[in-house]
Amino acid sequence: MSCRLVVLVSGNGSNLQALLDAAVSGTLDAEVVAVVSNKPDAFGLSRAAKAEIATDVVEHHGKTEARADFDRRLAEAVSVHKPELVVLAGWMRLLTPAFLDRFAVINLHPALPGEFPGTHAIDRAFDAWKDGTTDRSGVMVHWVPDDGVDDGPVIATTEVPFVENDTLELFEKRMHQAEHALLVDAVNLVVAENSLETTGQ
Ligand code: GRF
Repeated sequence: MSCRLVVLVSGNGSNLQALLDAAVSGTLDAEVVAVVSNKPDAFGLSRAAKAEIATDVVEHHGKTEARADFDRRLAEAVSVHKPELVVLAGWMRLLTPAFLDRFAVINLHPALPGEFPGTHAIDRAFDAWKDGTTDRSGVMVHWVPDDGVDDGPVIATTEVPFVENDTLELFEKRMHQAEHALLVDAVNLVVAENSLETTGQ
């Protein structure tokens, strides 16, 4: 039986699409069993629906809801699908141990380990190149053991160099291409190297 993935998305979902495409072409050693979003209008949900995959939305109740309370509701929604692995693919919300202690969780981030944690990592790397402080960036997939931002044991990385006459648009395109390939590779690596169990029960 292949590894059960639940994918968490907040937006476009092009990385989710890479997983769905790899599942169809047989290059993903796992099955996306559900996609959960914190944003009801996330395009990733439409991608999942098109692929006939279960979807759910868990919205944060603004200032009135504590982070851990949201995380517990999210964990309940995710656990319904009995995942062996939870993949954060463009998930734009910090998770706490209320969620993380219940699942094996990995995160995709468009920067190399220790570089540009948080949002707008691609733009910040491009600015650093323009300032002459770097000549490459890259993408990584890492475990999410705690609520550190884009930090945790690294599973896989790909370097993405800058090129002569680079533009933000071209660099961003290369970064996303690298992410799409790396995420599939990283999931396959995790499945191959870890004895994953159904979690979150
Ligand atoms: C990706 O660059 C991801 O690494 C970052 O947000 C972007 C989401 O892209 N956290 P998509 O929603 O998968 O298209």
